[in-house]
Amino acid sequence: MDVGCGHGRISNRLAEHGLVVTAIDLSREAVAYAEEDSRKRSVDVTYQHWDMRHLRADWSETFEYILVWFSTLGCLEESEFLPFLHDAYRCLRPGGILIADHLNKATFLRREFPIIETHLLEKDVMINSTNFDMYEDAFVTERTTIIDGDIKRDSAKNRIYSIKELKRYTEQAEFASVSFVNFAGSTASMYDQRFMVLAHKS
Ligand SMILES: C[S@@+](CC[C@H](N)C(=O)[O-])C[C@H]1O[C@@H](n2cnc3c(N)ncnc32)[C@H](O)[C@@H]1O
Repeated sequence: MDVGCGHGRISNRLAEHGLVVTAIDLSREAVAYAEEDSRKRSVDVTYQHWDMRHLRADWSETFEYILVWFSTLGCLEESEFLPFLHDAYRCLRPGGILIADHLNKATFLRREFPIIETHLLEKDVMINSTNFDMYEDAFVTERTTIIDGDIKRDSAKNRIYSIKELKRYTEQAEFASVSFVNFAGSTASMYDQRFMVLAHKS
């Protein structure tokens, strides 16, 4: 299961590789886009507009892997984090693995703030300005979009957990073991920009 699948960039590719995928996202627009892309690629993914804060009762012991990619764990409020881990544990089959990617606080805090990113698409523009809120341990992105000349502003907060916190929370959620791995497959270090959290259900 791909949790917070966004526009399906991962789910549809996993399905192209022959995996059976269920994918959920809170955004109806993202799910609609993901479904359209799956049709274009002629793959079959079970998409659902669904909130990761309450995984379905009939998903218990269903999935071999639960994927939470691109800082999606940080979208949860901290009070929602442990309940989500308990729920993910419930939905994994015995021997299943929760796989999440997470920004590395150690490297993130060495960057120059604010981090400004500009994306141009024909005449439309998106500008992100990101700072770190040290009272919340979260990065906060102020986003300005200009679409067809219409200016909109919004902001989003994303919690960054330390490895120590991730260890504690996954242990509390009864995972048998957890490891932190970089994208070369080695144990994550303070030099990695991001790392994967691999939490195993026994
Ligand atoms: C940073 S995007 C990552 C998208 C995708 N995982 C990827 O790697 O391309 C985070 C996604 O999580 C979704 N999301 C945030 N809160 C959610 C929730 N409570 N339940 C389900 N999806 C959620 C957002 O709508 C968004 O599509």
